[in-house]
Amino acid sequence: MVIAFTGTHTYYPHPMDPKRVYIETYGCQMNVADTELILGHLADHGYERTAGPETADVILLNTCAIREHAEERVLSRLAAIAHHKARRPGVKLGLTGCMVQHLRDRLLARAPYLDLLAGPDAYRHLPELLARDSTDPLVDLRLDRSETYADMTPARDGGVRAWVTAMRGCDRFCTFCVVPYVRGRERSVSGPTLIEQVRTLAASGYREVVYLGQTVNAYHDGHWSFADLLRRTAAIEGILRVRFTSPHPAEMTDDLIDAMATTPKVSPYLHLPVQSGSDRVLQLMSRDYDRASYLALVHRLRTAVPDIALSTDVIVGFPTEEESDFTETLALVNEVGFDHAFMFKYSRREGTKAYARGDTVAEAEKTDRLQRLITLQEGLAAARNRALIGREVEVLIEGPARRTTGWLVGKTPHFKSTVLPNIAPVGSLATVRIADSTAHTLIGAGAAPAEQHVNHS
Ligand code: 5AD
Ligand code: SF4
Repeated sequence: MVIAFTGTHTYYPHPMDPKRVYIETYGCQMNVADTELILGHLADHGYERTAGPETADVILLNTCAIREHAEERVLSRLAAIAHHKARRPGVKLGLTGCMVQHLRDRLLARAPYLDLLAGPDAYRHLPELLARDSTDPLVDLRLDRSETYADMTPARDGGVRAWVTAMRGCDRFCTFCVVPYVRGRERSVSGPTLIEQVRTLAASGYREVVYLGQTVNAYHDGHWSFADLLRRTAAIEGILRVRFTSPHPAEMTDDLIDAMATTPKVSPYLHLPVQSGSDRVLQLMSRDYDRASYLALVHRLRTAVPDIALSTDVIVGFPTEEESDFTETLALVNEVGFDHAFMFKYSRREGTKAYARGDTVAEAEKTDRLQRLITLQEGLAAARNRALIGREVEVLIEGPARRTTGWLVGKTPHFKSTVLPNIAPVGSLATVRIADSTAHTLIGAGAAPAEQHVNHS
């Protein structure tokens, strides 16, 4: 029997009870998928998931190292969560993921009470590490060129969309980015294994698959290219949509563009990180494309898939970025007309090639550039969504709308969030006419929402 008290009470597990694990995820979608993998693997070893740290025997934070801010968030959360361990000494507290790989020694110095540090290639060993009795922290940071976890079954949350890791690691070494150092070299899961995984997902009700990888279009399993994988995935019965993130612009082959254009289930949507519009900065970033070739790629994509939606990542304030470089970024963003953008201030990461260049753009200047970029992008996104008013779109229904009682939410093929009246079941496709929009949401036509949930732009 489990006696679980929350709040000011304490949870005392019975020795025969399964161990309970609580995990928090920081960072990108790859980390969300890794958390599902960790939970699935621990479930196979007798662990149960629990909803909060107060009822857990094992508390894990799955961390991110991409920007300093992400690391600061984990450190402050760690300080807040440590009292669970102080109060119940049997509790094990561990960190997994990229930050562990990046900051190992500093983490141990700052949080000596940590029981466990496991890097992104060490999740297979977690049950063994957790079973060990040790007063010293256990550290497993081996990077394993061949580890893909292909044989492990993630514990997914359900829903209509399944994130499936197709490849891990990155070989590109963009000069600002810590990922190749913390996640190691590129490796792909074999195509037939992925197809089998997606068949199983379709049979259990998933309708959309999103292939994940740090440079997902560099996928190659020795036989199949990424285009091959997309075509074969789209042929799986029950799967209605196929997407992927994040591709690298320099890896967008004609064959991949052709697969997108000629495979109806592959969404007409692409996240295409540009990072900067200045050739000088792109070169310092080692991005392997320049402004003209990026724009030419956008042109190729729009020729092949005329209404394709594009999103991007942009960094402002890379070392030595001048106002003139930034103006080129603004001009490029304006010229492409992205549907969505993730926009970041440069964060100097130890170990990267750009680290040696310092952090030359003042914080206030970065803030100002970021704000100007966001203002431009929000206007562009709002205009692109406004252009859809009056048109019919097909929505894959995901569930109830969060802020409008009785309405549903889903995504269009172009990956635009849409709220709509309750006209079709979750997991099905519904066609709805767009009556209104904001920069981030389309509003389907129908009975007036019970409660207005959007600010009109
Ligand atoms: N500083 C700011 N943004 C970064 N990114 C990666 N590294 C950094 C960094 N050091 C951004 C890039 C990348 C996205 C995932 O995170 O835009 O595409
Ligand atoms: Fe980082 Fe560049 Fe690899 Fe993306 S492609 S993960 S930005 S090094």
